[in-house]
Amino acid sequence: METKRLFKVFGLFVMALAMSITVNAQSGQRKPTVYVLATGGTIAGQGATEVAAGYKAGSITVDQLLSAVPEIKDIANIQAEQVANIGSQDMNDEVWLKLAKRINELFAANNADAIVITHGTDTQEETAYFLNLTVKYNKPVILVGSMRPSTAISADGPRNIYNAVATAVAPESVGKGVMVVMDDKILGADDLAKTNTLSVGTFQNPNYGELGIVYNGKPIYSRQPMKRHTVNSEFDVTKLDKLPRVEIILSYSNATSLFVDAAVKAHVKGIVTAGVGNGNITTDMQNALEKAVKHHKIAVVRSSRIMTGPTAQWDEVDDDKLNFSASWFNNPYRSRVLLMLALTKTTDYKEIQRMFSEY
Ligand code: DGL
Repeated sequence: METKRLFKVFGLFVMALAMSITVNAQSGQRKPTVYVLATGGTIAGQGATEVAAGYKAGSITVDQLLSAVPEIKDIANIQAEQVANIGSQDMNDEVWLKLAKRINELFAANNADAIVITHGTDTQEETAYFLNLTVKYNKPVILVGSMRPSTAISADGPRNIYNAVATAVAPESVGKGVMVVMDDKILGADDLAKTNTLSVGTFQNPNYGELGIVYNGKPIYSRQPMKRHTVNSEFDVTKLDKLPRVEIILSYSNATSLFVDAAVKAHVKGIVTAGVGNGNITTDMQNALEKAVKHHKIAVVRSSRIMTGPTAQWDEVDDDKLNFSASWFNNPYRSRVLLMLALTKTTDYKEIQRMFSEY
């Protein structure tokens, strides 16, 4: 009788052990798959010493980069790919299209639950916005960079990467468009700006405020993105291998038609103005832009060099009379990205204006 009971207890113990092993194995298998697509930047930069100011962006590989944060393997199954290894001042359409296509392909094949892109901070806001309009899935896509190279004292890269992966695997990050995670903040791509040349807290959403924060390895969101994005976007770059050429032209006291004339000569398809105040431009420049629209069918979008506030339609400039569009809350850099994509679909300034009101 005693022996029988002993066997029973032992049997139950073995069953419990087997169940716990299965659950562990299953939870191991259930770890989300995160693809880390590396493009370079300071986060992959190396200095001569730990305190050296000078360093070379984009000089270590994605595997070296990730080896500084082994903890990410506890929360995700990590797959790494080196898409480019450049300082983001050299970011270009080719890498943008490569990234958009690769991300769409990974999601279409159900190979990835989320994507983290390592990127230099100089043009991170442009790439984030481009992907925000061209990735067709609502799974998390997060860009991350650092302000200090990997060799610096208190390098911010490893913490930023951990936070980016932790945010990418959180279910509440689905459907928020493309985001940037840096300095414990989660920022939306629809209002992103680098605001300080050196500080680790450089990124802000200056009009709408950040989407949330990362605390103890978990995202805490305080708002939704404001604009249409990713899955809801009407742009499709799958079959494109180049984008229409759009230039940005700055306005300032005494600005002449010089750069508008040069852009016309170079056969650009669109011009974004970084105007003063509410997107105003000098009379000389405005006359040249009017001719560019009328005689050369160049699309003109008025934006502003001011960091916050909209460039509103029909304020001091009569956009309808001139066939210009106004950028609303898009700064000149995002306006350039949106105009490039808009021009893949239309050249009608009213339709372009609709897009600027929605994205
Ligand atoms: N030139 C920079 C770039 O790759 C380095 C700055 C950075 O990544 O913070 O954008």
